[in-house]
This record gives sequence, structure tokens and C-alpha cells, in this order.
Amino acid sequence: MMIPEEILTSHMWVFYTLIPCLLIDGVARLPAPQNLSVQSTNMKHLLTWSPVTMAGEVIHYSVEYQGEYESLYVSHIWIPSSRCSPTEVPECDVTDDITATVPYNLRVRATLGSQTSAWSTLKPPFNRNSTILTPPGMEVTKDGFHLVIKLEDLGPQFEFLVTYWKREPGAKEHVKIMRSRGIPVHLETMEPGAVYCVKAQTLVNAIGRYSTFSPTECVKVQEETLPLALALFAFIGFMLILVVVPLSIWKMGRLLQYSCCPAVVLPDTLKITSSPQKLISCRREEVEACAMTVQSPEELFRTWI
Ligand SMILES: *[C@@H]1O[C@H](CO)[C@@H](O)[C@H](O)[C@H]1NC(C)=O
Ligand SMILES: *[C@@H]1O[C@H](CO)[C@@H](O)[C@H](O)[C@H]1NC(C)=O
Repeated sequence: MMIPEEILTSHMWVFYTLIPCLLIDGVARLPAPQNLSVQSTNMKHLLTWSPVTMAGEVIHYSVEYQGEYESLYVSHIWIPSSRCSPTEVPECDVTDDITATVPYNLRVRATLGSQTSAWSTLKPPFNRNSTILTPPGMEVTKDGFHLVIKLEDLGPQFEFLVTYWKREPGAKEHVKIMRSRGIPVHLETMEPGAVYCVKAQTLVNAIGRYSTFSPTECVKVQEETLPLALALFAFIGFMLILVVVPLSIWKMGRLLQYSCCPAVVLPDTLKITSSPQKLISCRREEVEACAMTVQSPEELFRTWI
């Protein structure tokens, strides 16, 4: 909203700039810029025009605009563009001037010293809702089992509709609305061995419009290698136990058998020379010795090895 004092100064400004034009008759000599157009992409608005050329002269341009309030209620008031009053190049970034989603009038004129051209006005007026929205640049990565997305930072007016799904028959799409600060963000925890796909579109609430979708990017999650390795180790361990335990029991049995009762079958010569009495007593001693011998586990182990 303009207060009366500002309106007054604007009047004075128009007044002062008009006087030289009228007095010096510069309007007729300097041609007005032609071919005004606005290239607007992702809410960045650039007004361009065909340059006015005068041999050996540097032409300057002034750009002014009227927003909704000015064009509806005070149509004689034009506001100098914040960035290009004046400018030497035949273009003007009017992004900062266009602050609402309404038609804006834009005009430009050439100046050369004290000469000024007539104003050329953009037809039709520019509405920022006509901006071209491009799909966001994105990077989809995985961090372990985390699906991570990094979106292009287009500024505070931008949001992103991120659609992602697990690639499988009848997969359900999930949608998240995200803002971007240009940093990687966790999107989803993924299931091992699955493929996840992501696409995104830009959304600007101020103009109620979406871009098209970005190309789909997919990442494959690795199989759960750690638990698999564990399972493998467990299996090998189990097999080892199956083989080693009966083997060691058998070996132990044999060891005990040899250390306790070594000579079960005596050579015939012995049977002949020794009296049966002696033999029996000998065998009894041996059995007793056998019972007496308590082998420590270490000894057993050493003999077994
Ligand atoms: C305006 O643009 C058209 C084509 O885009 C071109 O032929 C013409 O010369 C331009 N006018 C000026 C004054 O440069
Ligand atoms: C922009 O807004 C105007 C109303 O202000 C509407 O008529 C026009 O269709 C809109 N254009 C787009 C591309 O949304």
C-alpha cells in the first residue's frame, strides 16, 4: 500500500522525467526498444528486448513495472525495477519485482545522454504463473538399507513431490512432500534384495503448479550378507560338530580301551609259560591299575592328538 506522500513523490518523479522529453524532443530521435518478452523458468523472470543501436553510442535502458495495485488503482504510477534502472544490457532480471501471482505490466525505454525513447510495453502483461517449471535435479543413493535422496535447491518457494515404490508386481506408490536444502535426506528403509525407484516433481504453491516428473532412478539393495554369512558359519559349525563329536567319542573310547586294558589277546606262548593262576592275578592287577589311573583332561587331549 502506498501512502499519499509516496504517491506524491512518484508524481514528482514522472513530472521531472517527462519535462526533458517534452522539451528536448528526444522521443522522436531515439527508437524505442522492440520485441519485449519475458523468459521465466523456475520463478526466475528475465525481461529481454531487442537492443537499440546507435553507431558509436552506449545506449542505456530503464525498466519499470506496475503490479496489481498500481495497474488497478493508480494506473499512472510505474515503479522503477530494482535491478535495472538503468542498465546497459538489453535484459533485466525482474524476479525481485514480481512478488504476486497477478498480471504485471512491464515497460522499457532507451536513453542516450539527455535523449529518451518512447516506452515500449510488454504485451500481454506477465503473470508469473506462466513460469516454466523444470523437473528437479535429484540424486538417489543408498546408505546401507536407507534410501537417500538429494534434491536440487531451487529456493524457498519450491517443494518437491517425491514418489517412490518398491519394484515388484502390484507395488504401491508412496508420496512425500519435501523441501530441499541441497542436503541428502532419508526417504525409506529398504528391504534387502529389493529394487526401489524414485521420481520427483517440483511444486510451487504460490502459483499452484507442478513440473513434470524427473526421470525415474532406481537403486538395488544388496542381499542381507551379514546374516547369510552367519547362517553359513552356523551350518559349517553344525556339520563340524556332527563329524567331530562322534569321532572324538570313538577315539576317546579307543584311548581308554588301550590305556586300561591293552592286552586282551595274549600270545599263545605266554599262555603256555605262565600258569593260569599268575595270569589271572596279573590281569586283576592290571584291571585295578586301570581303575586307579585317572587321566587328567590335558593328558587325554595330548594323547588323543
Ligand atoms: C524483433 O524480433 C524479430 C524476430 O524475432 C526480428 O526479425 C526483428 O528484427 C526484431 N526487432 C528488432 C527491432 O530488433
Ligand atoms: C494464470 O492466472 C490467470 C489468472 O490470473 C489465469 O487466467 C491463467 O490461466 C493462469 N495461467 C496458468 C498457466 O496457470
